[in-house]
Amino acid sequence: MNVDAIRAGIPALANSVYLNTGTFGPLPTVAADEVRRAYGEVERLGTFSPHIFYEMELQGFEAVRNQVASLLGADPGEIALTRNVTDGINIVLHGIDWQPGDEVILTDQEHPAGTVPWLALAERAGVVLRWLELTLDPEEVVHRFAALLTPRTRLAQISHVSCLSGFRLPVERLCAAARRAGVLTLIDGAHAEGQFGVDFRALGCDFYAACGHKWLLGPQGVGMLAIRNDLVETLRPLWLGWDVQQQYDRAQRSYQLQATAARFEQSTRPWPLYLAFGKSIDFIKGVGQDAITARVQALRASFVAALLDLPGATVLSPVEGAFGTGLITVNVAGWACEALQQRFWERQRIVTNVIREFNAMRFSIAFFTAEAELQTALDEISKAIRDSALN
Ligand SMILES: Cc1ncc(COP(=O)(O)O)c(C=O)c1O
Repeated sequence: MNVDAIRAGIPALANSVYLNTGTFGPLPTVAADEVRRAYGEVERLGTFSPHIFYEMELQGFEAVRNQVASLLGADPGEIALTRNVTDGINIVLHGIDWQPGDEVILTDQEHPAGTVPWLALAERAGVVLRWLELTLDPEEVVHRFAALLTPRTRLAQISHVSCLSGFRLPVERLCAAARRAGVLTLIDGAHAEGQFGVDFRALGCDFYAACGHKWLLGPQGVGMLAIRNDLVETLRPLWLGWDVQQQYDRAQRSYQLQATAARFEQSTRPWPLYLAFGKSIDFIKGVGQDAITARVQALRASFVAALLDLPGATVLSPVEGAFGTGLITVNVAGWACEALQQRFWERQRIVTNVIREFNAMRFSIAFFTAEAELQTALDEISKAIRDSALN
């Protein structure tokens, strides 16, 4: 992999030590150029001219659906192009007719995007939430999950990768256990897509929600939901409106929904952003998913090893590569995480996020991360530990 050439295609990397792809990935020039090009065409010709609206925007949107389907190993008819993970979760949640006493299993490390909608559902519909407390031991997670399944369980929502620790959950095994119990599975793939290959069918889940703006390096405002073919028509769409693929008969006052997952998309959308997302996917594919995964694994291994040698740094992410990802969460002795985040930015322009639950820093290692950047982060962690000890 030619890391220098890749980095040259992502200008933000020249202006900071960007270790925060887990929050928002930096935008490659090819994607930014596509936004400029597409809006330039809109500006030049007007949106509702045949070339723009039908050929570029709508056909372009369908082409991106195909790209996303191929990325996930799903059929295009199983893909709804959304704005973000939250959309996908809400489409599933509101698509099911809940009965009081129905049970839903959630991990205790779901992002608020994957928790708040369920908390609200519990308040409103009397659905009971059962919490799967995560550890970094996959066997124990599978064991705890099985113990939470009851005849009332209808769905389990599980992050593919914990946003708190970067732990890659044993999703295939959890989905298999759920399926045996007749329980639907919704996977939050925010930190999986783009980090490693995701095979929707091999995972054995029913629904897979992800966003474009993290590891896939897409613009903000684009996401995806994969819905298993045979479930598409069983989910009731909550939001309806006009849609180019939906039959509407004004005289009869009747409508016919799409038979595909496109039924969950409605109305006017920022089509040029999806075109740009297609360029981001091409960019990732051009580098190659296997090469990306291999490089992130190598970088994380040396970063974690160095942290383990640093008294005062406590790694809260898996040490082993098999269940570890590019998200590395570290508690630094003597520091409040927000103060450290600010210090790192001010001293070295390091961009990171914090995990307040653990008073920890979360470093995102991506395929374009340079070894020297990780060394800068390690040096800063050491200096912070030293300075705190002096105080
Ligand atoms: C695991 C996880 N799920 C969901 C989200 C929220 O994503 P979105 O803004 O795409 O809804 C995040 C954002 O950081 C996340 O880490």
